[in-house]
Amino acid sequence: MDHHVHTIEVKINGKKYRETVESRLLLSDFLRENCGLTGTHVGCEHGVCGACTVQVNGSAVRSCLLFAVQTDGQEIKTVEGLAQPGSLTPLQQNFSECHGLQCGFCTPGILMSTDDFLRQHACPSTKEIKEMLSGHLCRCTGYDGIVKAIEKTVKEKNVDEDKEMKLCT
Ligand code: FES
Ligand code: FES
Repeated sequence: MDHHVHTIEVKINGKKYRETVESRLLLSDFLRENCGLTGTHVGCEHGVCGACTVQVNGSAVRSCLLFAVQTDGQEIKTVEGLAQPGSLTPLQQNFSECHGLQCGFCTPGILMSTDDFLRQHACPSTKEIKEMLSGHLCRCTGYDGIVKAIEKTVKEKNVDEDKEMKLCT
């Protein structure tokens, strides 16, 4: 076998894929072109804009900074795997309601970062949310709707989990 070609096995959104890839193939291109998961968008291809963010083993990563071969044996989640087909997660629902979707180009990456962020920060401050979002460069302006959507999601989750409605401070 050509030593520049490797067979990798990954689980993406719960489904197993066994594919032969070139060493130089980026994870972002692998997801879009080999797996047909075009929800992952590619902007800068330099790790700057955040559009290509997916999760590898639960952590948000720039898929344009990884080679597909590096994810052999790993578990990947893309925006297609956030919710069941035909439904939305509360975060996605709130992006829609709070006008956080914008033109949609950066939205998948922002959702994947935020999903990881909210698992690690149950009660983030607005400042912490904005810091997390600073990893995403978007030209649609007004991150305002996105911040509101994230804050609404946090508030609803805490009301759900705490019947005494002890909100984040
Ligand atoms: S395309 Fe990966 S960070 Fe911009
Ligand atoms: S969502 Fe439109 S450019 Fe970022």
